[in-house]
Amino acid sequence: MSRLRPGVLAAGLALAGCSERAPRMEFEPGPVPAEHVAAERLFDANCARCHGQRAAGTDAGPPLVHQYYEPAHHADIAFQRAVAFGVQAHHWSYGPMPPIAGLEESEVERITAYVRWLQRKAGVF
Ligand code: HEC
Repeated sequence: MSRLRPGVLAAGLALAGCSERAPRMEFEPGPVPAEHVAAERLFDANCARCHGQRAAGTDAGPPLVHQYYEPAHHADIAFQRAVAFGVQAHHWSYGPMPPIAGLEESEVERITAYVRWLQRKAGVF
């Protein structure tokens, strides 16, 4: 790592078009509906360390409450694929997302529905 030259790295990322980090999308969505309570727990346990509580983003990953991730741009299947196979860094400079082990497809569906609820509450779509 000590041989990595940050300036060169940043220039490379800028050329690749993914040098950005998103601003946090913190907001108060109000009480979580009963149908999403279990999904919020799954999200907090498996996704929040990078995507942040309520998907607001952290230094390790983008907010999912963001227009990039609305249904028209990232359909629900993109969530299944991201969890199963991981994601190459392509929109941002956080680095790649690793595959997330230990989640059933049905649990990822519930997490996705919870994120859609947050997105709607934030007026993303
Ligand atoms: C170790 C950090 C990390 C964890 C944990 C993590 N992600 Fe990600 N995720 C990322 C990063 C970084 C990106 C953005 C990659 C890019 O586009 O540059 C991302 C992107 C995504 C995307 C967009 C995929 C695409 O096609 O562009 C989805 C959907 C997603 N994550 C869902 C999840 C869900 C659901 C969980 C929990 C089950 C999760 N992530 C856990 C780091 C993480």
